[in-house]
Amino acid sequence: MDQDQLKQAAARAALDELREGMTLGIGTGSTVNHFIDLLGRMQPKLGGVVSSSEASTERLRGIGLEPQTLNESGDLDLYVDGADEATRQGHLIKGGGGALTREKIIAAASRRFVCIVDESKVHGVLGEFPLPVEVIPMARAYVSRELVKFGGRPEWRQGFVTDNGNEILDVHGLDLVNAAEMERRLNQLAGVVTVGLFTRRPADMLLIATPRGVERLEPHKSA
Ligand code: A5P
Repeated sequence: MDQDQLKQAAARAALDELREGMTLGIGTGSTVNHFIDLLGRMQPKLGGVVSSSEASTERLRGIGLEPQTLNESGDLDLYVDGADEATRQGHLIKGGGGALTREKIIAAASRRFVCIVDESKVHGVLGEFPLPVEVIPMARAYVSRELVKFGGRPEWRQGFVTDNGNEILDVHGLDLVNAAEMERRLNQLAGVVTVGLFTRRPADMLLIATPRGVERLEPHKSA
């Protein structure tokens, strides 16, 4: 199985989490694109959908679903999204596709967050994937200098503008052994809109696709 087939398998497994009438948050990226395509084939009865990016909105429209805004929908029952990197505790790096801010807002407003990944993205410690940080454009150079003080090597994602009109720094080399503390500290830098670490609002369920099947992991569920 190649990586794309594994992404599709993870997306298919997420369909089991859907219930009739649910309000659904939709993430961004190639794994979620598979999920949207599967929704198109299944045509489930949903209470509404909210999209995390213009790209996902377009794809949802393509299967006949018109997203609501989060202001219209209120809190969501379920959020389905991919990740760039995950730990088995449900901590994530997101934002490779640049949609981290809307993704983080939707995750925060969702009762349950199901993250769909292939096994190549699961690591003991986060940080192999450069950490995306969305910044207000005028703060880019300032935030870059501050990130260097944290031990990072920020790289400006040139030519890329987020759906919110901001810019992205991809930060290499940060020590993320204590990712929750790093998320807290980086969030406080003036000019930072969103840090692509999801530790304060981790995934409730990880669906990890492997060639042997999809592993369902609920790291925070008490037995
Ligand atoms: C989008 O900004 C990201 O957070 C995506 O969730 C992440 O990049 C996963 O993308 P793929 O499913 O394309 O690997």
